[in-house]
Amino acid sequence: MSQAEELSTTSSSSEAIASESHSTDLTKHPTSEVSSETLLLYKNFWFRRQFVDRIKLLQVRFKARHDDIIIATNPKCGTTWLKALAFTITNRSRYDFSNHPLLTRHPQELVKTIDVEIPLNGDLTSIETLPSPRILATHMPFSLLPESIGIHGCRILYICRDPKDAFVSRWHFTNEVFTEKTDINVAFNKCCEGISDFGPFWDHCLEYWKESTGKPDRVLFLKYEDMMLEPVKFVKTLASFLGGPFSHEEEDAGVVEEVVRLCSFKTLSSLNNSETDVVERGYLAVKKSAYFRRGKVGDWVNHISDEMGRKLDYIVEEKLKGSGLVF
Ligand code: A3P
Repeated sequence: MSQAEELSTTSSSSEAIASESHSTDLTKHPTSEVSSETLLLYKNFWFRRQFVDRIKLLQVRFKARHDDIIIATNPKCGTTWLKALAFTITNRSRYDFSNHPLLTRHPQELVKTIDVEIPLNGDLTSIETLPSPRILATHMPFSLLPESIGIHGCRILYICRDPKDAFVSRWHFTNEVFTEKTDINVAFNKCCEGISDFGPFWDHCLEYWKESTGKPDRVLFLKYEDMMLEPVKFVKTLASFLGGPFSHEEEDAGVVEEVVRLCSFKTLSSLNNSETDVVERGYLAVKKSAYFRRGKVGDWVNHISDEMGRKLDYIVEEKLKGSGLVF
């Protein structure tokens, strides 16, 4: 059974039942109100409480396999795209482009985000029964990944994005998903203080950046903007990093371009444009179309002022100074 088929049999129904037993005591952590939920500071990063609970669970129970592929991202930096690409590249000998799982399944359904989707009762059956090589996604900071990922030397794909576009994308997504709307200025000020889901944004990037510079065979650090400019080049890079470079025959037959086309914003957004179809994400049912908004570089200019843009750029530059990472 393929990973896509395996995933369709999983359920999150037991989640609510067990939430108390692993729940994190809010009074023991600094908290901040952002949009409709309270974020709490846990080991230098801000999370909704249920993510802290899941991270703790995963640290204890997750058993990595040496051939696991981990997709790690700050939210709204291109997770959906990278899921589609990694799934398509890895399974390219199994699926025909005319009958591909992505034509009927959302990338979020084909690749699980473990810290969003595992039930809080700690039952990891849905992950443990997946065939190898597993592709699993996470928003966890590098420093909080389960130890076994490091021990087994799993390959990690990390994608980041211009913080201004990531902020705007997140603001839209949050407003789409939660009933309570957030004022963009309030969210922006919190973001500048480093307070956002899985934030500070810059520390999240920096941890993976440092790991990628020290261990380039283990962590592939990607930027959304670079991939948008040269998708063919990056699809080849991804395939090589994942241990299955495209053969000359595949290149001559246009397979790389087919992968780019199938996983493009244009294709995936048109396949997932229903206003009623949802994808189950842990405790939320999210409209499939919510993962495909504009798919543009630089859309921030349409939502925040130049002054706000300069402010965030300045903060990020200061935080990343000396690291070699620039946006
Ligand atoms: P915008 O809100 O700027 O349009 P994530 O997948 O991490 O949640 O990120 C979502 C962002 O990636 C959204 O950005 C979305 O439109 C964009 N996106 C989704 N699929 C994409 C694809 N195939 N190619 C490029 N961008 C994509």
